[in-house]
Amino acid sequence: MSKVMGNQEYHEPVLADATASLLVTRPGIYIDGTLGGGGHSLELLRRLDRLDGESLLVGIDQDSYALEAAGQKLRDFGDKAILLRGNFSMVRELLAPVKRGPGEGLEVMGLLLDLGVSSFQIDTPVRGFSYLRDGPLDMRMDPDGPLTASDIVNDYEEQALARLFFRYGEEAHGGRIARAVVSARTVGPITTTGELAEVVRRACPRKDSPIKTLSRIYQALRIEVNDELGVLQQALEDGFSVLSPGGRFAVISYHSLEDRIVKRFFSSRCAADWGPKGLPLREPLKPAEAELVIRKSVQAGEEEVARNPRARSARLRVIQKLET
Ligand SMILES: C[S@@+](CC[C@H](N)C(=O)[O-])C[C@H]1O[C@@H](n2cnc3c(N)ncnc32)[C@H](O)[C@@H]1O
Repeated sequence: MSKVMGNQEYHEPVLADATASLLVTRPGIYIDGTLGGGGHSLELLRRLDRLDGESLLVGIDQDSYALEAAGQKLRDFGDKAILLRGNFSMVRELLAPVKRGPGEGLEVMGLLLDLGVSSFQIDTPVRGFSYLRDGPLDMRMDPDGPLTASDIVNDYEEQALARLFFRYGEEAHGGRIARAVVSARTVGPITTTGELAEVVRRACPRKDSPIKTLSRIYQALRIEVNDELGVLQQALEDGFSVLSPGGRFAVISYHSLEDRIVKRFFSSRCAADWGPKGLPLREPLKPAEAELVIRKSVQAGEEEVARNPRARSARLRVIQKLET
């Protein structure tokens, strides 16, 4: 799953070849909104290098450790790669100075979001993402973010916890687990990923796999800590608006909640609005703004999944903004 980079472990990019070949069509600005260790960015830069014309890659991540790792990986590309710390929901604001400066006169031809956490984040116990590695209950992708998993686990009321586990974890036993969490914290705060895992394991019905429940509960907490779904909706809208006509938007998602949002957004941009049924219109009220580059999502093949288990749940969707 991870590769050794110098003395640092990092993340093998998922569906890297398909993503880069579907995204890169012509020179221009390409934004990698989820830079991580820079694996996808490296593949994009290699392809851009083979095109005639000037290109620039803008890599964004909210995690300062990711920027450090990506900076090393992309150092051979010098000022062709501009790496920025920030949330991809702020893509317009982050891009503005680039367009006024080194990217002046270039069109934004591609935008990539490879959602979720990196293997590096999961595998670093102190970041608190994993139930397999004991660490503080943190789960912030932005290490300076305002809310930690510990705040949620120790402060949310039982009902709010149950709702969270149902909604973001799609966990059928959300109520039972919320009750167990609230009962465990009467003895003292739950402060580590290991302690929480033990509470969840004990609350899990015997016939169910605790691993699946654990991953659903940890997913729910991570989504809440990082406001992942709210941020995604904003990023889709703003990301699409910064693309130039002919530019492409690729998103890789890893669970059904994310994928549903992406699919719905892409479909809405690819459909013309003809108003209520039966209106005698010659032209749509709003024409389609984009077209699907691939009709269905792309998924990883067996070989990639065997090499990189994280690829198992990945779905890549790509649209292209129409030239008007
Ligand atoms: C799945 S990893 C990306 C890995 C990357 N494609 C690579 O090849 O190494 C997701 C990265 O996106 C970052 N991230 C997630 N949500 C973000 C957001 N809202 N704004 C900025 N970065 C975000 C995470 O910190 C993480 O480093």
